[in-house]
Amino acid sequence: MKTLIIYASHHHGNTEKLVKHMAENYDIELFNAEKEDKVDYDGYDLIGFASGMDFGKFYPQVTDLAEKLPAGKKVFALYTCGMDSSNYGRQIEEIAAHTDCKYLGKFGCKGYDTYGPWKLIGGINKAHPSESEMADACAFYESISK
Ligand SMILES: Cc1cc2nc3c(=O)[nH]c(=O)nc-3n(C[C@H](O)[C@H](O)[C@H](O)COP(=O)(O)O)c2cc1C
Repeated sequence: MKTLIIYASHHHGNTEKLVKHMAENYDIELFNAEKEDKVDYDGYDLIGFASGMDFGKFYPQVTDLAEKLPAGKKVFALYTCGMDSSNYGRQIEEIAAHTDCKYLGKFGCKGYDTYGPWKLIGGINKAHPSESEMADACAFYESISK
């Protein structure tokens, strides 16, 4: 099964750290949606969409490409965030539903965050994603790509 992860990671590179770790350990290709905007989905069975959370949403560069998914693909969501919520990932689940793709689930973890007041205290979640969170992301990937 060939896998592509489309990502954007402009706050602190937290999501990029996570997806690069996964790509080092599995046969996964990465597509940086902040550098390119035309993706060829041909040949990929499994597509991941990965982003930092931005007021509860994935970065638009990522969701714009998700909206162009051809029907029939298997899809998953990855995110890093300041404070987790069970709603994160739902946006990708909804896009998968209306593009006739199959949503396999989500993995999210903490990411270094210096937004707004957090900046005054030097940020929160320093050193996240951690080694253990990245191992959990790999376990998630293994569970959906069998
Ligand atoms: C403008 C802005 C909005 C954010 N909104 C949220 C949010 O709604 N929920 C959350 O948990 N984290 C939020 N964060 C924290 C980021 O999602 C978190 O730092 C994430 O790891 C950034 O990922 P990146 O470095 O890959 O861009 C926000 C950060 C910024 C700068």
